[in-house]
Amino acid sequence: MSRLTGKRDLLILKNITHVYNQQSQKIKVLNNINLRVFRGEIISLIGPSGTGKSTLLNIAGLLEQPTFGTISLSGHNCTKLSEDSKTILRGSKIGFVFQSHRLFHEFSAVENVMLPQLIMGKSKIVSKKHSIELLSILGLKNRLDFRPAKLSGGEAQRVAIARALANSPSLILADEPTGNLDATSAKNVFDILYKLVKSLDISCIFATHNNDLAKLMDRKIILKNGSISEQYLQELD
Ligand SMILES: Nc1ncnc2c1ncn2[C@@H]1O[C@H](COP(=O)(O)OP(=O)(O)OP(=O)(O)O)[C@@H](O)[C@H]1O
Ligand SMILES: [Mg+2]
Repeated sequence: MSRLTGKRDLLILKNITHVYNQQSQKIKVLNNINLRVFRGEIISLIGPSGTGKSTLLNIAGLLEQPTFGTISLSGHNCTKLSEDSKTILRGSKIGFVFQSHRLFHEFSAVENVMLPQLIMGKSKIVSKKHSIELLSILGLKNRLDFRPAKLSGGEAQRVAIARALANSPSLILADEPTGNLDATSAKNVFDILYKLVKSLDISCIFATHNNDLAKLMDRKIILKNGSISEQYLQELD
């Protein structure tokens, strides 16, 4: 870990164990996971289907309470926070992107990006202006008023990225965000996310089955049998 000295921690997962109780069965999905995520880095999370990638992202995103272990974000221990405090922290610090875009079908692209900002108390005018800026950065200036059904898969996923960035989070958790896209759109969506992570100095954990994309990230985390191993693909310094 010496090469990481001086890096600024954003997220620390410490001794995370997670057990699902399924009827009378106990399924231990994560077994004593330790992970530090630094500012400005994008990490791929890979591993066979059913190994717990989504579970780990849900725990990191404070959507799921781990059975054991602690989560700290920007130096704050989040493990014992009330549900209300977690919701506020999630809304302000964490952006999620999923395999299916999960946009609201009855709202336009710009309205979808406005929604999380309105929830956090921003005015309509301010949130609309910011949404237009974000969608323009993502190459969707001409799609502002389109509803999700009228967007291509790649465009819808770019709207989902804009929505994830709407409240200027410090962490993006992306759960197979390119899983439904063809190779060209997948690379395009990845490139955009990569550039944003670097230019905004935020962090991203990107779960994927796509090894070509995993190779382009700063680090590769391999999840298998409840444990992780790491490969350093590029120097972080
Ligand atoms: N709510 C739940 N209750 C019980 N078991 C669950 C629950 N959610 C997930 N699991 C189990 O935990 C394991 C890990 O699931 P998870 O969705 O985290 O895997 P994954 O690595 O994301 O898989 P994929 O690559 O297919 O998305 C699976 O065996 C799954 O059946
Ligand atoms: Mg998954």
